[in-house]
Amino acid sequence: MEKVLELKDVSVHFGGIKCVQHVNLHLNRGEILALIGPNGAGKTTIFNVITGIYQPTMGSAEVGGQPIAGLKTHQITALGLARTFQNIRLFKDLSVRDNILIAMDRTAPSSMVASILRTRSFLAREVKKNTAVDELLEIFSLQHIDEETEAKNLPYGVQRRLEIARAIATGARTLLLDEPAAGMNGNETESLMETIRFIRKRFDLSILLIEHDMRLVMGISERVAVLEYGKKIAEGNPKEVQNDPNVIRAYLGTE
Ligand SMILES: Nc1ncnc2c1ncn2[C@@H]1O[C@H](COP(=O)(O)OP(=O)(O)OP(=O)(O)O)[C@@H](O)[C@H]1O
Ligand SMILES: [Mg+2]
Repeated sequence: MEKVLELKDVSVHFGGIKCVQHVNLHLNRGEILALIGPNGAGKTTIFNVITGIYQPTMGSAEVGGQPIAGLKTHQITALGLARTFQNIRLFKDLSVRDNILIAMDRTAPSSMVASILRTRSFLAREVKKNTAVDELLEIFSLQHIDEETEAKNLPYGVQRRLEIARAIATGARTLLLDEPAAGMNGNETESLMETIRFIRKRFDLSILLIEHDMRLVMGISERVAVLEYGKKIAEGNPKEVQNDPNVIRAYLGTE
């Protein structure tokens, strides 16, 4: 099976603190893999390694079979990877549509000259772009939001959905989602689960998901990896992981 993402014996230390220790992890093409674990286990730190924000203290990471050591975040994005953040990051003063359009433009900028001359190919591309935005708006149930509304004024759950739409708009085929259901109620989480299933098929995505909501994790993941104090303590299908004594201990704090 093709690996779109791989961590090989990755450790991350901050001063004397070992936040990630000897983690091996891979994401297969087309798969949804959940990364779970108690607060502070090192989950987001792993996303930061994969996206080039942190360099591992030891070990290495590959995206699409290519080592990412020394690559900048935008260079890793260019390999077809996009993420969302635990603390939502959007262009706060822009509308929903503009947030998505900017994500598209960053990866496929229309040439300045063409846009000034309004050439036929430019216009054709603009039409295509807007059609793509319309589809994303519909998939994420954002189509009825007023065009004037700034992202910062949207309810939390809506901002989270918009952030995922933006990640897809970059053209990425590998998505890293950091707690996409955080702050959502049960119904919103349920519909997010359906949406993630749908986008995986529609856009042929591979997804690495950090999430605390166990119903979401167990409902959509093929595999689950569990971190505790920076170490991977279990990995397997949802059922195997749920019944693993180490996982039960990590979550319940009992033997
Ligand atoms: N830049 C940094 N400098 C120092 N320590 C850091 C840094 N980034 C993360 N850490 C520490 O690494 C550990 C793991 O943090 P991380 O954010 O990866 O946890 P997490 O599993 O995502 O937790 P949560 O579920 O709360 O989001 C924590 O103890 C955190 O304080
Ligand atoms: Mg985190």
